[in-house]
Amino acid sequence: MNRTFLFPVAILLCLLSVILLHTTPADAFFLNESEDLLAETVSESSDISLFFGRFHPVLVHLPIGFLLMAFLLEFMSLIKRYEQLAHAVPFVLLMGFLSGLFSAATGWLLSDGGGYGEDLLWLHKWLGISVVVLSLAAWLLRITLYDDPFYKKIFRVTLTVMVIVLIGAGHYGGSLTHGSDYLFRYMPEPVRSWIGVEEEEPEQLSLIENLETAHVYRDVIEPIFAARCQSCHDPDRTEGELLMTSYENLMRGGESGPPIEPHQAEESDLYRRLRLPDRHDDRMPPRGRTQLTADQIRLIGWWIEQGAPSDPLVTELERPGEIQTILERLTVGGQPFFERVQVAQADPQIIEEAQSRGFRISPVSEGTAFLHVNTLQSKTSVTAEDIEALLPLSEQITWLNLSRTSVQDDDLELLPEFRNLTRLYLQHTGISDGTLARVQSLENLEYLNLYATGVTDAGLSYLESLQNLNTLYLWQTDVTADGAIALRDRISGIYINMGVEFEEE
Ligand code: HEC
Repeated sequence: MNRTFLFPVAILLCLLSVILLHTTPADAFFLNESEDLLAETVSESSDISLFFGRFHPVLVHLPIGFLLMAFLLEFMSLIKRYEQLAHAVPFVLLMGFLSGLFSAATGWLLSDGGGYGEDLLWLHKWLGISVVVLSLAAWLLRITLYDDPFYKKIFRVTLTVMVIVLIGAGHYGGSLTHGSDYLFRYMPEPVRSWIGVEEEEPEQLSLIENLETAHVYRDVIEPIFAARCQSCHDPDRTEGELLMTSYENLMRGGESGPPIEPHQAEESDLYRRLRLPDRHDDRMPPRGRTQLTADQIRLIGWWIEQGAPSDPLVTELERPGEIQTILERLTVGGQPFFERVQVAQADPQIIEEAQSRGFRISPVSEGTAFLHVNTLQSKTSVTAEDIEALLPLSEQITWLNLSRTSVQDDDLELLPEFRNLTRLYLQHTGISDGTLARVQSLENLEYLNLYATGVTDAGLSYLESLQNLNTLYLWQTDVTADGAIALRDRISGIYINMGVEFEEE
């Protein structure tokens, strides 16, 4: 029998399926009894279509698997040893086509539910349908005209085009469900810039310039939403039909009505969602996204309790102590020293010289000139000459770790020169009160570890002028509980660790 006629039939079938899918409203798949019934049950029917639609993200993996497999089998069979594989191709292709058809149908229902960006959706939808059409064409070609060398070529070209379109459809589908940066979010920076992927959303939120003039919504609350929520609640995606790109849209709400009840945080859906357990389905932001910090959640709760206003200044609202502290942490001055202060880059040559003496030197964080200096494991002795070698870096060194070395009071004569020190680790060294007399002038110091050294109460009194000091370790020293308490009374907010005894009293 001449089966050539099947080829045009295939084309026709493809066209038909496209037209069918395009012109059939989703509801018609389920309701065709009578016009009246249709009109009455529209809302119910869209629930049903959503029910089936939600299978789409799971189902799509079947055609992807089958169709890639068909492609692989076909081209593997070109190798003599794997010739036999060619026999499996028609069956695998057919399965790919059928599962593809189901995926497309469920996808159609899902897209009917709305909530996706129009442009992305359009692309994904038509690429997906093209895959179905191409797989049908490929299957028909394969079972009819494969013996003809010319059509065999056409078949292989079709198969290849199908795979390319499949990859495109999959990519845009992924962007729809996971956000357009899904694939590249955790890509290492060098690769990222090499293939030209833009920077991801900032991990750090922008800071409040000046608390006195800051507006509560624009400067405090909205930046949190902008960084953590808007990627899914913007005009492109509008998840849950909620737009968070303006105050008015936010207050109007989405599917389930206004998410914020002014003055009633506990009654507000938005606040409830922020505090659900990590794995809860309603939790916002959803699992896998950067979560809000406890501070940010508290601020949002406070703002709702204050009536969720858009206009007033922060200073016009009532601020419990805890909220004031959080707000201060969010202002420019509340940031780590190395982010507030700028210094020039250190000379690489000098860094290298210091490294050759057994110091390990690295920036304290990306993009800053401030340095973290540590000693290599093997370097157990630190001398006055070593410290002198660090002197040209005194402006840049902000964390200095000399712990578990032989360093003594006499070696640290130059310590006061290191004016930008914020963390100093001297635990398990030979230092005593003499060094504290020098530490006294390090006014930026925030962290000091004196665990297992010879310091005493007398030495502690030198530290009273260090008003930025917030953490002090004194375990296994000669300092008494009374001495520690005396210092604690002089420096507000300081945390002193004396080991177990002190914690208990
Ligand atoms: C990864 C995408 C994503 C991010 C990021 C995200 N959401 Fe959502 N959001 C959704 C989806 C999907 C829904 C709809 C499903 C649901 O109701 O749980 C939704 C629904 C909501 C709703 C309910 C809307 C309604 O009326 O039913 C609220 C409120 C909400 N999100 C708040 C937030 C807040 C606040 C943030 C930021 C802290 C946030 N979302 C971040 C995806 C996201």
